[in-house]
Amino acid sequence: MSRSGLFVSFEGIDGSGKSTQARRLATRLCESGHDAILTREPGGSPGAEEIRALVLQGDPDRWSADTELLLFTAARRDHLERTIQPALEAGKVVICDRFADSTRMYQGLSRGNLRAKVDALHELMIGVEPDLTLLIDMDPATGLSRAKARQTKEERFEDFGQGLQDRMRAGFLGLAKEFANRFHVIDGARDADRVAGDVWAAISGHLP
Ligand code: ADP
Ligand code: TYD
Repeated sequence: MSRSGLFVSFEGIDGSGKSTQARRLATRLCESGHDAILTREPGGSPGAEEIRALVLQGDPDRWSADTELLLFTAARRDHLERTIQPALEAGKVVICDRFADSTRMYQGLSRGNLRAKVDALHELMIGVEPDLTLLIDMDPATGLSRAKARQTKEERFEDFGQGLQDRMRAGFLGLAKEFANRFHVIDGARDADRVAGDVWAAISGHLP
């Protein structure tokens, strides 16, 4: 895939402040004259947003672990084809609220160890990693209470509770070591301005 743009993902546990930081970064980039788009997963294209409703709403046992993995991957494939790839080819900065690292953690860890399947499917169907991944790291108790304070119907994974969030946090920190070339770990337990300052410091040297 040709990519003259820059592909940036935000990752972290629920409530860590990813969406807030992704939005702020997009605003700052646009204000400073960069061509940037803000997108999210699951979702980010019309078809993938339809799949988002299927995977985040309704009975938590609606899908088997394997079906769920296929649905998240199908959503990502559509998002990549319709939104991410065209924007990168046009030289834009793509800011994505979650990407494949979330699947490595959530589908890879939450219902048994499915990491090998997640990786195989990723290689077969997606094959793309962000240029930079900003991991907004924070204590799961704080993240969960922030996430719970929001009013939303999309609470499937938040409902797994703090035990899973603890494993997710450790898992994300493990990914930051595994993919040290693209990950930046940022302490999310500070006020949003300071977090945003670190986000800017991490990406500004990489802008197209
Ligand atoms: P995520 O996308 O990681 O789930 P959000 O950006 O939606 O997180 O933030 C979760 C909640 O915490 C929101 O209500 C948001 O306004 C609030 N929040 C975000 N960043 C901070 C921060 N640095 N300090 C305090 N509250 C924050
Ligand atoms: P998101 O809207 O980012 O939730 P939050 O703002 O609470 O962090 O993501 C929705 C949920 O989808 C979140 O609990 C994580 C889950 N998810 C997966 O399980 N697998 C994936 O591949 C992605 C992208 C998200």
